[in-house]
Amino acid sequence: MTDLELMKIAQEAREHAYVPYSGFKVGAALLDRSGRVFSGCNVENASFGLTICAERVAVFKAVSEGLSQFCRLLLTGGEEIITPCGACRQVLAEFAPDLVVICASDSGMMVQYDLKQLLPQSFALQQRED
Ligand code: THU
Repeated sequence: MTDLELMKIAQEAREHAYVPYSGFKVGAALLDRSGRVFSGCNVENASFGLTICAERVAVFKAVSEGLSQFCRLLLTGGEEIITPCGACRQVLAEFAPDLVVICASDSGMMVQYDLKQLLPQSFALQQRED
């Protein structure tokens, strides 16, 4: 799966963004080690705090289908290069601390980060057995 293919999937998801309040559409494409890709778009709500970002939609879709070994995330805000918000960084780190994050614009610009650069010293709990 190339970054250009991920970009196309993220752009298609971005078209579905529900953004009556901000007008700012975001699309994401999350690649799992199995080769499957999960897309996401932002979904806003009149109760603003309930808005969910494109990245978290993609993560939760994947986890709900039993996959959580993520290797690559491509994120696009259309003409704008954006990086994941802090909440999404923490959610991504839960499953994929070694994730590669590509921030891409429609004009073809791509900037690549390691999630560890974006969220150094992320919070984690020791996994416990109940
Ligand atoms: N947004 C995302 O989808 N991902 C981010 O990482 C940053 C922000 C969305 C949330 C909201 O719908 C809009 O962008 C403006 O904040």
